[in-house]
Amino acid sequence: MTPYKLPVIFCLCGCLVQVHPFGWSDLDPIKHIKSTGWYHNIQNLMRATFRDKHQIPKGKGSYSVGCTDLMSDFTVKGSLLRLYYPSQDGEYHSTVWIPNKEYFVGLSNFLGLHKFMGKFLAYYFGSVTTPANWNAPLRTGEKYPLIIFSHGLGAFRTIYSAIGIELASHGFIVAAVEHRDESASATFYFENEAAVERDNKSWLPYKCLHLQKTEYPKRHRQVLQRAEECSKALNLILDINEGKTVKNVLNSTFDLEQLKNAIDNKKIAVMGHSFGGATVIQTLSEDKRFRCGIALDAWMVPLSDELYDRVPQPLFFINSENFQTSENIMKMRKFCLLDKERKIITIKGSVHQNFPDFTFVTGKVIGYIFTLKGDIDSDVAIDLSNKASLAFLQKHLDLQRNFNQWDHLIEGEDTNLIRDNKC
Ligand SMILES: *[C@@H]1O[C@H](CO)[C@@H](O)[C@H](O)[C@H]1NC(C)=O
Ligand SMILES: *[C@@H]1O[C@H](CO)[C@@H](O)[C@H](O)[C@H]1NC(C)=O
Repeated sequence: MTPYKLPVIFCLCGCLVQVHPFGWSDLDPIKHIKSTGWYHNIQNLMRATFRDKHQIPKGKGSYSVGCTDLMSDFTVKGSLLRLYYPSQDGEYHSTVWIPNKEYFVGLSNFLGLHKFMGKFLAYYFGSVTTPANWNAPLRTGEKYPLIIFSHGLGAFRTIYSAIGIELASHGFIVAAVEHRDESASATFYFENEAAVERDNKSWLPYKCLHLQKTEYPKRHRQVLQRAEECSKALNLILDINEGKTVKNVLNSTFDLEQLKNAIDNKKIAVMGHSFGGATVIQTLSEDKRFRCGIALDAWMVPLSDELYDRVPQPLFFINSENFQTSENIMKMRKFCLLDKERKIITIKGSVHQNFPDFTFVTGKVIGYIFTLKGDIDSDVAIDLSNKASLAFLQKHLDLQRNFNQWDHLIEGEDTNLIRDNKC
C-alpha cells in the first residue's frame, strides 16, 4: 500500500510525455520548451486544468495567523519546524507555500518521475502562497495550547497549511515538523555555522523503499525516528517557552523570545496525517507530555503490535472513505480498549489527499480525476475534520472555549460522517 501519492503529478507527466516526446536528459527542459511551440500548448493545458480554484482556505477562527520557520542546531540531528501561531493584526506578506525547488524535485523523485517534472511543478506552484502572515509578531496576552504536527510519506512541513492555519486561528500554536527519516519529499540542514553563512544547504532526499517483505522493519525504524523528532520539537519549543536562548539557524526576522511564556505547557497534543498518523500513536506511547492525539487517515503498517495497550492518552482517528482498507481499520480497532478514550470516524466521499493542501490548489478536473479531491467538496471535508479536531482537543486538553459546539462530530453525527461503532 502506498499511502501518499500525488497522482495529479503523475497525470501531468503522462500528458507532457505524450505531447512532447524528446530526450529529456540532455536538455534544460524549461529553456527548450520555451523555444518550441509546445510551450504554449502546455501552458494552455495547465492554465485550463488549474483555472477553477487555487486558494488554500483562510482560518475561520477569530485570531489572525502568523507563520515562520525555525531550525535549531546543525546536522541532521537538529529540528526543522514551520510554526503557525496567533499573530497581531496588520499588513504582512503572505507565506510562500513551498519555499524551495528541491521539494518539487523530491515530489517527482518520490513518484519515480524524471527530475524535469520537479522543475515543471516548481514553475507552476512555486509562487503559490498560503494565507498566513509571514513572520508577523505573536499576539500577546494569552497562553496558547500547542500541537506538534507530523506529515505523511513524501510530504514535508509546509503542505498541511490549511489545518495549521485553521487551528492557529482558533488560538493554538502549531509546530509542523519536517522529518529527517528520509520519508519527506526532501529536507535540508546545515552542517555548521560556516555552511549557514554560505547558505550551503545539505539536502536529504526522499528514499524509495520498494521491497514489500522488508517494508515493515524499515518503516518501523522510521516511525521510531519520527516519534523522537516530535518529542525533540516539543523540547525545543518548551525550552523557548521557559526563556532559554535558542538560536534560529535560519535567517528570520521573527524574534523567538516572543514565545517566552506564550505556551500553556500542560496543554499539548500531537496530530498527523498518514505516516504522520502512525507517528501520532508512536509518539503518544513514548512521550506522556502529549495528552491526546489525532490521527488523520492513519497508515498503520509502521506500528508494532506491542503498542495496542501502551497508549493511555485519548486518541481520535479521522479517516477518509477511499484510502482505508479493512486490514488498516482492524489495526485501529485494536487500540479500542474498554478503559481508553477512542473514536474512529470517516468522512464520506473523501480521499486520502483531502488532508494536505494539494486538494485546494488544483482545479476540479485534475483534482477529481486524480483523487486529490473526493466526491465531497474539499472545503466541507477539511471543515469537518478541523471542527471535530477542535472539539476533541477542547475535551481532552480541558480548554475553556466554544469548540464543544462541535462535540456531535466526534460521535460521527453529521450527514457527511460515519462513526465506527465497533470502537
Ligand atoms: C557545502 O557543504 C559540503 C558538505 O557539507 C561541502 O562538501 C561543500 O564543499 C560545501 N560547498 C561550499 C560552496 O562551501
Ligand atoms: C538576513 O536577512 C537580512 C534581511 O532580511 C539581510 O540583510 C542579511 O544580509 C541576511 N543575513 C544573512 C547571513 O543571510
